[in-house]
Amino acid sequence: MHPEPTPNATNVHELSTPAVLVDIDTLEHNLSTMAAVLPGALLRPHVKAHKSTALAEMQRRHGHRHFTCATVREMVGMARAGLGDDLLLANEVVDADRLRELATLQDDAMITVAVDSDATVDAAARAGIHHVLIDVNIGLPRCGCAPHDAARLAQRARDRGMAVRGVMGYEGHLMVSNDRNTQRRDTLAAMDVLRSAASEVGGEIVSAGGTGNHDVHAANRAHTGVTEVQAGSYALMDTYYSTLGLPFRQAISILGTVISTQEKWAVADVGLKSLGMDHGNPSIAGHKVWFCSDEHLTFATEKPADDSTRVPQPAVGSRIRVIPAHVDPTMSMHDSFYLVRGDQVLDRLPIDLRGW
Ligand SMILES: Cc1ncc(COP(=O)(O)O)c(C=O)c1O
Repeated sequence: MHPEPTPNATNVHELSTPAVLVDIDTLEHNLSTMAAVLPGALLRPHVKAHKSTALAEMQRRHGHRHFTCATVREMVGMARAGLGDDLLLANEVVDADRLRELATLQDDAMITVAVDSDATVDAAARAGIHHVLIDVNIGLPRCGCAPHDAARLAQRARDRGMAVRGVMGYEGHLMVSNDRNTQRRDTLAAMDVLRSAASEVGGEIVSAGGTGNHDVHAANRAHTGVTEVQAGSYALMDTYYSTLGLPFRQAISILGTVISTQEKWAVADVGLKSLGMDHGNPSIAGHKVWFCSDEHLTFATEKPADDSTRVPQPAVGSRIRVIPAHVDPTMSMHDSFYLVRGDQVLDRLPIDLRGW
């Protein structure tokens, strides 16, 4: 066993790196901004973005009692943490053991599982799941049944004794766009498909959306019939969403230490094993990121265009804050995160929903 890393640190400079920092004031800003736009049950926060029951508890304190999960591990962890008022597994599962584990939680938690095929309906029924949601494909080539098949699957689920609470659809391909009018138009077109499936399936839930188009959903609920939005990234934010001009700010950074400095570049200990890289390179304020390798991040201090003098690179041992381009996989690589205000460490909280 390794010793717990710096549990009593009061300043970020005392932390072992790489370490996830979450700025408490920015987090609060993001949570309260979203709660004002989509209050209470209009938002079903997706916990895949942070994988932390402590952070979910903060979202609950902002009025959201229903949560979205991507894995059985997240569902189980949330239920055991007393956050099981209404949990949606917005993902398909055929693993009988995992579904049975979920079913055992139903006395104490409201469990709903997404299904999109005969096989997933039957697996849920065999495991003793009571509630399902029909997952409808609304344009993203991922999970979700063909819209015309939604009513048939709902009937199959009812025939097997399960209650069908409604539909969900995830338009992940529409979360980021250079043109917000196009994003709005395409989101509304996707919701036409979902609304039509919802009318054939029945049930009270129409669940969709994410951080990138949460405002489109908020403004058009009366027309689309969407009852809840599944946004998750808004709490911590990443640079991927920063082009949209959303009212959320980057609360997360990965604290790194400069471990080597050369004439024209420096290297920090925040490599791609501590960063989700599928949305591209991370950012460092005032520096240019060259590339990441497993345990290393190579970057250079930017000099103003009109400045011909040599800019010194950061000294070995100095600290930098790296902003990830994709928050969800970044969180899943770390055991814990530090709540901070500036350089002050306020708390260390577990990222306890990792795993499957
Ligand atoms: C099913 C589902 N719903 C909602 C989201 C929304 O997430 P975000 O807040 O990152 O846009 C995701 C993200 O991948 C998802 O997979």
